[in-house]
Amino acid sequence: MLLSQLLNFITTTFIILVFSTTATAANLSLPHPLISFLESLPQSSQRLLLWNNTLPPCQWPGVSCSSNSTSITSIDVSSLGLSGQLSSSAPHLCRITTLREIILSYNNFSGPIPPSLFHCPSLTSLRLGFNSLSGPIPPDVLLATHLTELVLSNNFLSGSIPKQLLRLPHLQLLNLHSNNLTGPLPDFPPSCSVSKLNLNKNILSGPLPPTLSNCVNLTEFLVSSNKLSGIITSDAFVGLRSLQCLFMENNDFTGELPRSLLGLTGLTVLVLSKNQFNGTIPEAIGHLQSLTEIFLWGNNLTGPIPRSVGTLALLKTLELSSNQLVGPLPSELGNCSSLVELLLQFNLIGGPIPPEISNLKKLEKLYLFDNELEGIIPPQIGNMTSLIDLQLYNNSLSFRIPAEVVYLRNLRYMSLAFNKLSGEVPGELGRNLSYGLVKLDLTGNDFHGLIPPYLCEGG
Ligand SMILES: *[C@@H]1O[C@H](CO)[C@@H](O)[C@H](O)[C@H]1NC(C)=O
Ligand SMILES: *[C@@H]1O[C@H](CO)[C@@H](O)[C@H](O)[C@H]1NC(C)=O
Ligand SMILES: *[C@@H]1O[C@H](CO)[C@@H](O)[C@H](O)[C@H]1NC(C)=O
Ligand SMILES: *[C@@H]1O[C@H](CO)[C@@H](O)[C@H](O)[C@H]1NC(C)=O
Ligand SMILES: *[C@@H]1O[C@H](CO)[C@@H](O)[C@H](O)[C@H]1NC(C)=O
Ligand SMILES: *[C@@H]1O[C@H](CO)[C@@H](O)[C@H](O)[C@H]1NC(C)=O
Ligand SMILES: *[C@@H]1O[C@H](CO)[C@@H](O)[C@H](O)[C@H]1NC(C)=O
Ligand SMILES: *[C@@H]1O[C@H](CO)[C@@H](O)[C@H](O)[C@H]1NC(C)=O
Ligand SMILES: *[C@@H]1O[C@H](CO)[C@@H](O)[C@H](O)[C@H]1NC(C)=O
Ligand SMILES: *[C@@H]1O[C@H](CO)[C@@H](O)[C@H](O)[C@H]1NC(C)=O
Ligand SMILES: *[C@@H]1O[C@H](CO)[C@@H](O)[C@H](O)[C@H]1NC(C)=O
Ligand SMILES: *[C@@H]1O[C@H](CO)[C@@H](O)[C@H](O)[C@H]1NC(C)=O
Repeated sequence: MLLSQLLNFITTTFIILVFSTTATAANLSLPHPLISFLESLPQSSQRLLLWNNTLPPCQWPGVSCSSNSTSITSIDVSSLGLSGQLSSSAPHLCRITTLREIILSYNNFSGPIPPSLFHCPSLTSLRLGFNSLSGPIPPDVLLATHLTELVLSNNFLSGSIPKQLLRLPHLQLLNLHSNNLTGPLPDFPPSCSVSKLNLNKNILSGPLPPTLSNCVNLTEFLVSSNKLSGIITSDAFVGLRSLQCLFMENNDFTGELPRSLLGLTGLTVLVLSKNQFNGTIPEAIGHLQSLTEIFLWGNNLTGPIPRSVGTLALLKTLELSSNQLVGPLPSELGNCSSLVELLLQFNLIGGPIPPEISNLKKLEKLYLFDNELEGIIPPQIGNMTSLIDLQLYNNSLSFRIPAEVVYLRNLRYMSLAFNKLSGEVPGELGRNLSYGLVKLDLTGNDFHGLIPPYLCEGG
């Protein structure tokens, strides 16, 4: 061996030695990121995480690795009762560069969201819901370009939603519900990829931008219980073909129901209650054949209930109370064969109760109180054998209580009070129903004869 070769060998060996020593030193000085995370938690929380060296990290509870067990891909320590400042624990996790998913939901982490969490290089899913986090959503969130899911619901976050948040190119789920977020809705950019957007229960204000329809893949748009206001432009929902759930309840929206609503043929749940929508319920609501629930109560809607509602074969709940709807009740309502709750109280609905309503074999709740209904209680009502709760009080219904009510074997609550009913109360009402009947109110009518035995309340 030549001297030069020998020197070369020694140098190479030395370099290798130095490198491996450095690696070991780095190993010793810097504990595993998961151990750093653990040790940054309060003592009481450390005991809840069964992470120790009896097993390799990939086998620790809540830790998931790639299929060849070389890299940690997911940490899920939800619902363990962990606490402490998130900013002292969570950043350690980002030293695991392969980490794709961080789930810390349903704990008691507090303090602000550490901006460094959004610098985790591979992060696609961050779930911090149901903790005690406060402060704003850090603007660094805009750097987390791999994010597909961001869940920060049920905390005490304040400030406004970063305006560009929906520009994150892969974001599909954004859930910020039940915080104290203020300011306007975020921008809906042309590339908007979000599918589920839940901003319920914040203090967001301002209008619904007409750009919402950029979010072509929206399936859930939930903005109930905020302070959003203004007239919704008629084309606001154009092209949202995937939309299934639209929740805009308890805001200050006004004007007519936007026409583009009527193109949402995939819609299953429509919740627009407690706003100031005016105008009529459009006949074309019958196009929304997937609807299972309609909540429009507490608005200023006028006009009649459209006949086309009768074509909604999947409809289970129709809640139109506290508007200024007028009658008559369309007999087509009897075609809504899936209906379980029909709630039309506090309106100005006149005319008779259509006998066809008795076709609603699944109906459990029928609230028609505080309207201007006239005529008889149709005897066919005895066919509605699922009925549990029948409230017809404060109308102008007349004649007798039909004897057929005794067939309503499941009835537990019934008020016919403050009508113009007369005659005798059917004798079998007490005998056959009193076991199930919890509350019966017949006050404010013009009955005569004996009060049937077995009736304990009302009269
Ligand atoms: C320490 O370094 C060695 C050699 O590079 C590596 O195999 C091992 O996984 C490291 N341990 C930790 C806890 O990072
Ligand atoms: C160490 O981890 C194992 C497996 O998770 C667990 O069963 C054990 O209780 C842990 N031990 C301590 C002292 O935490
Ligand atoms: C383990 O799997 C990851 C991705 O799943 C891959 O990047 C890595 O090369 C694999 N490592 C080995 C040693 O096979
Ligand atoms: C959550 O943490 C706060 C302190 O940050 C503490 O006051 C509170 O009792 C904790 N709640 C629970 C349920 O552990
Ligand atoms: C959230 O907002 C409500 C209503 O404005 C307020 O009462 C409450 O104190 C706020 N909570 C926090 C943690 O900021
Ligand atoms: C909408 O979803 C489809 C199918 O998953 C996808 O190909 C498309 O890129 C998405 N559009 C946007 C704007 O994200
Ligand atoms: C509906 O509300 C809008 C906005 O408040 C108002 O301009 C319009 O006159 C109202 N229309 C009716 C029919 O009340
Ligand atoms: C809604 O109707 C109520 C009761 O008729 C009325 O006081 C209120 O001014 C109306 N609001 C709008 C915005 O039209
Ligand atoms: C709907 O109801 C109306 C009136 O009750 C009836 O004439 C009609 O045949 C029904 N349509 C269907 C499709 O059942
Ligand atoms: C409905 O009620 C009427 C009158 O009570 C009765 O004649 C009829 O047979 C009932 N129809 C069904 C389908 O139960
Ligand atoms: C009936 O309606 C009147 C006026 O709308 C209201 O004052 C009264 O409280 C109602 N009665 C009942 C029993 O709800
Ligand atoms: C009421 O109950 C009695 C005794 O169980 C029974 O003979 C009668 O047929 C019942 N009436 C009705 C209308 O179901």
